[in-house]
Amino acid sequence: MTRSSTQFVLAARVLHWLMAIMILSMLFIGVGMVASVSERHAWLIRIHKPLGIAILLLAVVRLIVRLRHPPPPLPADLPRLQKLAAYASHYLLYALMLAIPLIGWAMLSAGGYPVMLGDTWRLPSIFPANAAAFAILRHAHAWLAMLLFLTFLAHLGAALYHGLIRRDGVLSSMLGRRPR
Ligand code: HEM
Repeated sequence: MTRSSTQFVLAARVLHWLMAIMILSMLFIGVGMVASVSERHAWLIRIHKPLGIAILLLAVVRLIVRLRHPPPPLPADLPRLQKLAAYASHYLLYALMLAIPLIGWAMLSAGGYPVMLGDTWRLPSIFPANAAAFAILRHAHAWLAMLLFLTFLAHLGAALYHGLIRRDGVLSSMLGRRPR
């Protein structure tokens, strides 16, 4: 197997680690935001919206990179159930990276709130103003963020299992190192 077929392409690796930091920060910013009643709430929400839109844009770029550059195959001796779990969790992560920011944006549109990126740039509304829809989307945003956090924990556990126990090159393929 060539070096390139055992590793993710550079763009996929950069996007993976950059988005891991952004998404993890975002989950904590989100929870900190709803838990604070001081002026910190407004400060956190000013970070939350543009960072969420950046995650949405990067998720689209990442999907394109993934379709153009298929990932290295999983080890042939990996049990079928573990392969299925890996594929299912990857699809779920992509779906959540796209759905959560879109739902956040739709939620604010439904509530009639402007989605501002900085002081001047206002994004268009993507959902008609509707109080009932706002409540449903707000719950969906919070529950899907919780699901994202749980999926992230499972993903981290699997990465450590591959890197420390199986030592099968799966973790190295995302670190950009040759498997030892
Ligand atoms: C991957 C992207 C995102 C993640 C992981 C995320 C995560 C979260 C989390 C964990 C919460 C707290 C939920 C709760 O406990 O009630 C939250 C709240 C919220 N998010 Fe997001 N979010 C994302 C993107 C966005 C985007 C793009 C927008 C809007 C453009 C947005 C707007 C909001 C608003 C308005 C709240 C509620 C704030 C409040 O009630 O004070 N989010 N988000």
